[in-house]
Amino acid sequence: MQKILGTASARAVSGREAMLKRHDRLLQSLSNSNPRLAHSSSTALPLEENNDALIPKMPQFDYTPPPYTGPPASEILKKRLRYLSPSFFHLYTHPKILGTASARAVSGREAMLKRHDRLLQSLSNSNPRLAHSSSTALPLEENNDALIPKMPQFDYTPPPYTGPPASEILKKRLRYLSPSFFHLYTHPLNLVDGKMQYLFDENGRRYLDAFGGIATVCCGHCHPDVVEAIVNQTNRLQHSTILYLNAAVAEFAEALASKMPGDLKVVFFTNSGTEANELALMMARLYSGSHDIVSIRNGYHGNAAATMGATAQCNYKFNVVQTGIHHALNPDQYRGVFGSDGSKYAKDVEDVIAYGTCGRVGGFIAEAIQGVGGILELAAGYLPSVYSSIRKAGGLCIADEVQSGFGRTGSHFWGFEAHGVVPDIVTMAKGIGNGLPLGAVVTTPEIAKVLTYRCYFNTFGGNPVSTAGGLAVLRVLEKEKLQENAFAVGSYLKERLTSLKEKHEIIGDVRGRGLMLGIELVTDRELKTPAKAETVHIMEQMKEMGVLIGKGGFHGNVFRITPPLCFTKEDAGMSPPPPPPPPPPPS
Ligand SMILES: Cc1ncc(COP(=O)(O)O)c(C=O)c1O
Repeated sequence: MQKILGTASARAVSGREAMLKRHDRLLQSLSNSNPRLAHSSSTALPLEENNDALIPKMPQFDYTPPPYTGPPASEILKKRLRYLSPSFFHLYTHPKILGTASARAVSGREAMLKRHDRLLQSLSNSNPRLAHSSSTALPLEENNDALIPKMPQFDYTPPPYTGPPASEILKKRLRYLSPSFFHLYTHPLNLVDGKMQYLFDENGRRYLDAFGGIATVCCGHCHPDVVEAIVNQTNRLQHSTILYLNAAVAEFAEALASKMPGDLKVVFFTNSGTEANELALMMARLYSGSHDIVSIRNGYHGNAAATMGATAQCNYKFNVVQTGIHHALNPDQYRGVFGSDGSKYAKDVEDVIAYGTCGRVGGFIAEAIQGVGGILELAAGYLPSVYSSIRKAGGLCIADEVQSGFGRTGSHFWGFEAHGVVPDIVTMAKGIGNGLPLGAVVTTPEIAKVLTYRCYFNTFGGNPVSTAGGLAVLRVLEKEKLQENAFAVGSYLKERLTSLKEKHEIIGDVRGRGLMLGIELVTDRELKTPAKAETVHIMEQMKEMGVLIGKGGFHGNVFRITPPLCFTKEDAGMSPPPPPPPPPPPS
């Protein structure tokens, strides 16, 4: 048995080495302008020229793609070999660039939609779960106009909405979508348009978006540059597969790698934050040869097998097998047992390794600012010390930048940079695509090699549309200096919120950086009793005023302010107009 296993693993290793050598040879040949890549001077004549009679004729098709002006295959291949996973293989000796595809009508789909429509028509109107749709409370505007802050001027009117009303959508949602879905607000919003930091409901009412689709919209809703990149790419080619070359994915990988410190230069694309973290955890386990992972309490990393294990809040955990994860004390500066002393919390990680594992670990994963956990910034000094303990125990350090990346924290492009550490693996999603389903894992070439042991494959990860959009997002962030804006506007807003804390007992804590801010509400400042009901009430009132914010934290008593990074000082400064001057004394 041992012999069989030994032979199998030897084969895997030698296969991997052979593949890496092949890649090295390819790269070498590229830099030497190997004639194999310049297909015009190929030694083997293409089939067409050898024997024309043998070539099947293509059916007639009336479409000529626009001229291709992107980089040539050899250049894309060079970037792909340098910045994308070494586990990727491609079809053909001379891989093809697929630039354009043309759509065909699918009549079967139309028939299916008609069937759905007929079904929907037969839906009964009486669903008791929809009973709360007739409001009893007057909207705030009608109650007291003087209290309503004025929205900053914004020169945009959305087109008229012609879709179904909120009540109808809700009915379908309740009937056809997961019963686990919840919605914000007693009367859930039907948002139909978005423009930069504003959202519009079905009646054209404008809302200031201070939540950003959960820290996801970074450039602004429907930013024209991002939309243009998506539309252009969709018009040319929506999907091929990573088995062919495409410029969008290689160029985005290069651009992302340029934002990374040290040797973090190899990118794997995924479709979500969960997928990115799953992959990162698997790579850490493969690289280290250890299964045990340390994560911290109150963290959120996703909802698949390994990531649900690493997530440490019971609200997000189901009763399914989640092995090999150890949850260390949270370096929570507001509620944590050691206050802001990062070194004391870091000692707990040493203890977890010493008493909870065999002394070796696969890795450590943490957010620099816990988002779902209520915008909690890890205590200073914690990460450098923990990274050192984890590395001593043979593990890799993973920075989960799903919420805190892409300039959101203002002071830095990545959240981990504020702690003076360089991770071994960085994961990202949300802001990376301004709303596109896109995630990524960035690591070193050496760690990336672990995926060459077997085939690692992700059908949509790194698809042309998402990566073209992602590249446009990076360019907008730079062109519009959105990280700098997050710093300036975020600092101003935090200052204002902190001054509110002096006036209102209910505000227990104001925290965060840039445009990732949290306000924790408590009914008793000493006991830090979570003000859950009050949080829900204020959120409802703010919505009536036209301001959308998020909420989170273990107890659901923390406002999360994570707007698009184009949020302005005028948006941040929205406050009720001053009370009217007292009437003049009677003369
Ligand atoms: C820090 C963090 N990591 C991972 C995830 C999971 O990302 P996704 O929902 O895209 O799977 C989230 C989602 O909120 C997150 O906040």
